[in-house]
Amino acid sequence: MSISQLARSIQESPTLKLNEEARILRAKGEPVIHLGIGEPKNKAPITAILGSAAKLKYGDVKYAPTDGLPSLKKAIIRYTEENYGRLVAPENVIVSTGAKQSLYNVLLSIVDPQDEVILLAPYWVSYPEMVKLAYGVPVVVTPEDGTFHPRMEDIERAVSSYTKAIIVNSPNNPSGIVFSEEFIAEIVDFCERRGIYVVMDDIYQKLVFDGRQPTPAYRYTQKDIEDTRVIVVNGVSKLYGMTGFRIGWTIASRRMVEVMNNIQAQTTSCPSVVSQAAAEGALTGVQSVVENLRLTIQNNRDVLIQEMRGFTDVRVTRPEGTFYCLPDFRAYSNDSVELANFLLKKALVVTVPGKQFGMEGHLRLSYSGSTKDVIEGIERMKWALDPNAPNEIYIGDRKLIRDWL
Ligand SMILES: Cc1ncc(COP(=O)(O)O)c(C=O)c1O
Repeated sequence: MSISQLARSIQESPTLKLNEEARILRAKGEPVIHLGIGEPKNKAPITAILGSAAKLKYGDVKYAPTDGLPSLKKAIIRYTEENYGRLVAPENVIVSTGAKQSLYNVLLSIVDPQDEVILLAPYWVSYPEMVKLAYGVPVVVTPEDGTFHPRMEDIERAVSSYTKAIIVNSPNNPSGIVFSEEFIAEIVDFCERRGIYVVMDDIYQKLVFDGRQPTPAYRYTQKDIEDTRVIVVNGVSKLYGMTGFRIGWTIASRRMVEVMNNIQAQTTSCPSVVSQAAAEGALTGVQSVVENLRLTIQNNRDVLIQEMRGFTDVRVTRPEGTFYCLPDFRAYSNDSVELANFLLKKALVVTVPGKQFGMEGHLRLSYSGSTKDVIEGIERMKWALDPNAPNEIYIGDRKLIRDWL
């Protein structure tokens, strides 16, 4: 078989792989706890279901305009005005099949071969592979002060004449950190001055805790939407728990949207109309669903922090948003892939190795599931790793004895 060099250079998605492993174990009846999953467990809002059901009921399922149904774009424009304080035109909006496709289309639209895209570690697993798919070069910037918060001085050092864009994801997957307003202001100002695109991946925008408010990047540029270097990506996957509908969108200049439209037209034609109707239903329905989800997740975050306190030697940075936490497990292992495999095998707990996010020695834990899973999952991890934890545990109806510490 002849496989292209590009395809060979692309890594498997570790999170999707873990989902599959967990699914197989569960299918065999194993009581797996999934702290790896990146999706809320709530049902899609009823308005989303009704919206998509109406399309199906009347068999009204055809190709749609490549850039999205006008009625959905109208809802996105309203969302943008309310949450970003910017009134944009329909020509500034393009709907895609998930924020993932939005980001990929953005990169395909701006990256020339060998152009560099700066990624801020810890970063979302897909960014480096997407940059490579666009024939660009991912340049990873890790905060040198050992925190998860990026620093302008580190970024400025990494910028070269090839830098085309910086991807900023706050609230951040995998750390749960929310970047400071000062940082957002600085990076927007820096990118505007240097002619570098700042791609804001705002997919977790409203999932912020403790009374914090999201920080829209547009607030820090005086430039018109047609001139600004700020590109915004968002979607319904995380805020409304609608991961399977696959709807995301991009807000950018008309020219950028035109180019993205051409790419999308030649690759996927348009996002599914059934899903678009669902996204419209979510955006125009009661918004308390987002607040309820946020409160549930904030409560899970508190439970997770409480449970992790009993874990000897694990350093936890308190998440301020998303549904992830990235504890430092280097006291137990420097090899996060090995550690995650060990936890899956011994304790039947799925975690995601920090290595995939550019933070070796850490594990990403998701608390988007039930509170019970958070408690039991961490209990099992303590049992497997911490010599101070009791050496007996019940997993399902099996009593297990730790004999490796
Ligand atoms: C940071 C980040 N951006 C984008 C996405 C993709 O979202 P979507 O499901 O809309 O493609 C994810 C999904 O996990 C994510 O974590």
